[in-house]
Amino acid sequence: MKAIEIRNKYLNFFKEHGHTVIPSASLIPENDPSVLFTTAGMQPLVPYLLGEKHPDGKRLTDYQKCVRTNDIDEVGDNRHLTFFEMLGNWSLGDYFKEESIQMSFEFLTKELGIPVEKLSVTCFAGDEDCPRDVLSAECWKKAGILDGHIYFYGKDDNWWIAGEEGPCGPDTEMFYDTGKPACGPDCQPSCDCGKYVEIWNNVFMEYFKDKNGYSKLKQKNVDTGLGLERMTMLLQGKKTPFDTELFAPIMNKLEELQKEDIIESRRIISEHLRSSMMIISDGGRPSNIDRGYVLRRLIRRMIRHMNKLQIDLNELSNLIELNVETLKEMYPDLEKNKETIKSVINEEKDKFVKTLAHGEREFQKEMKKVQEQGKTEIDGQVVFKLYDTYGFPPEVTKDLAQENNMTIDMKKFDELFKAHQEKSRMGSTQKFKGGLADQNEKTIAYHTATHLLHQALKTVLGDHVKQSGSNITEERLRFDFTHPQKMTKEEIQEVEDLVNEQIKRDLPVTCEEMSYEDAKKSGAIGLFTDKYGDKVKVYTIGDFSKEICGGPHVTHTGDMGTFKIKKEESSSSGVRRIKAVLIK
Ligand code: SER
Repeated sequence: MKAIEIRNKYLNFFKEHGHTVIPSASLIPENDPSVLFTTAGMQPLVPYLLGEKHPDGKRLTDYQKCVRTNDIDEVGDNRHLTFFEMLGNWSLGDYFKEESIQMSFEFLTKELGIPVEKLSVTCFAGDEDCPRDVLSAECWKKAGILDGHIYFYGKDDNWWIAGEEGPCGPDTEMFYDTGKPACGPDCQPSCDCGKYVEIWNNVFMEYFKDKNGYSKLKQKNVDTGLGLERMTMLLQGKKTPFDTELFAPIMNKLEELQKEDIIESRRIISEHLRSSMMIISDGGRPSNIDRGYVLRRLIRRMIRHMNKLQIDLNELSNLIELNVETLKEMYPDLEKNKETIKSVINEEKDKFVKTLAHGEREFQKEMKKVQEQGKTEIDGQVVFKLYDTYGFPPEVTKDLAQENNMTIDMKKFDELFKAHQEKSRMGSTQKFKGGLADQNEKTIAYHTATHLLHQALKTVLGDHVKQSGSNITEERLRFDFTHPQKMTKEEIQEVEDLVNEQIKRDLPVTCEEMSYEDAKKSGAIGLFTDKYGDKVKVYTIGDFSKEICGGPHVTHTGDMGTFKIKKEESSSSGVRRIKAVLIK
């Protein structure tokens, strides 16, 4: 049975049992900044699980696109996926354990034709928060699950909650026996030797957890989730999801294109490509924070593995085309968004390619040092430097380390990464409070010089130049901006001259308050983020520069001194840094 047939059978079955089929929500959660991606079918339904009335009634069913990213670095083995589809059915205060279990049993044995001997189930064993779920066990027995195939486990295995707080409850899980021999006398569904594979999870959501503990919800809900890729693999008797029709075309194509034969790399490429395409199709774009950063990591890790197999990166567009063909029946949006997907992935590839070779050389150098010290772990500082300077996601460095039988200090990297993000957040809050903590004549002049520099860079290098950081002391200014390559001597000279010309012209500096929208319309440059309040200040320097900024600034450019660029260097991937002084 193909994946799409399983999906259709599922939705039809639940429709016949009084459920309304609702559409899959976007992978990018609406109105929920607390999570990066939709990770389960219940996520878009939380308000209704809590008691709000759903317009489509009390029985719902859907297929939901999900992304879970905790295990990105596990992808490459025979089972982990970052993108997967979850089939689900819900009772919002309608049926409960008995009917839910009866329907699941019927669907598995009758619709999918799974022999009952192959099925085992687990139920909640009970603790101080919630009693033992004897009712579920009885329902399973009544439905037809064989004696000796019903197990009881504690919260670790049979309790479901998304994160730390929210609606939750005991669950009952269904397992498929792959027929592998038991790994020992204690082999049970909870064992991860591979004999038993979890196929479906029915959560009996009647509790709510917050920091004070558990309370009862207004209504008793059922929330179920069945992983489509896994079910497809099992029903087709395949060993991995990569052997099913969802991945086979691209896996075969990679085999044809590769010059090295590494199955893990083929899996990583095909999995990360599918996941990236789905995220982009739902509006995600690569960046250095939050979900954009997850997407960046997926694309960059994929690129590195294409290099490893010596597959020409120009093949990317063809691989995307092939995946659209493979998946468009299931996800028609992919075809609609094909061109966007291609351009986003290719742009990200172009960015990464610029630093990839340098970064790999840097890694080799650092690795040698570590080896000479007789150690096998790459310092978190080095992992961070590779991230910060060469745009290497930690997974890429981890892959590199593993290929050389080494490990990386991920804990240290995480600390540095957090501190770095914190710092840039603090930096921007400070900036938007209205500027410089320490304001005196010198820093104020540097502040105005920064605006002149920003505009001069745009004039000389092009409109792609965007400020990505700024720091001012009494001695100098430092300015980070997006630009793909080193500036030439001539360009530096031109920028310097242009700034000095404006200083000599003794231009007036004026300030106006207006709405953010009007500021944008007026052509003012600035960091266009949602961090601005309703009203913003726009500083205008003669006819040369207009920029959103908190100030303060000099009133005339005339006596700022002579502007001199002292240094032009790389700050991080695709970002240059200028240090400059004003000489009086
Ligand atoms: N919410 C449960 C899960 O994700 C059942 O859908 O497993």
